[in-house]
Amino acid sequence: MQSFDPHQINFPRPARTGELVTVGRVEDVPEGRGATVELKSGAQLALFHVAGSFYAVGNTCPHRGAPLADGSLCGTTVECDWHGWRFDLKTGACLTHASDAVETYEVVIEDGWIKIKV
Ligand code: FES
Repeated sequence: MQSFDPHQINFPRPARTGELVTVGRVEDVPEGRGATVELKSGAQLALFHVAGSFYAVGNTCPHRGAPLADGSLCGTTVECDWHGWRFDLKTGACLTHASDAVETYEVVIEDGWIKIKV
């Protein structure tokens, strides 16, 4: 059996351009839910709506690549559905394995539109 090293996987990550990308309306992401955002580049972000605030992180769990948008929310923590690793949506820190983290992205709400700074 071939060994698996998650750090050797080339997960697609958004290029950091500073561009504000409009991804949808606030009503598109219900309170307490996550949504997958696919950028033009094909890279994916996970967008979450928590108590009126929105958070965006890379959508790929650094453990084995699960989509974090499908994870379970508890406050501003998302728990990966595959093996339970937990991430702080404000900082991207992994609360399960301190050496792993996900990137965070600023979310701006303008006139009901959700915009993510990539
Ligand atoms: S893929 Fe294993 S915890 Fe996310």
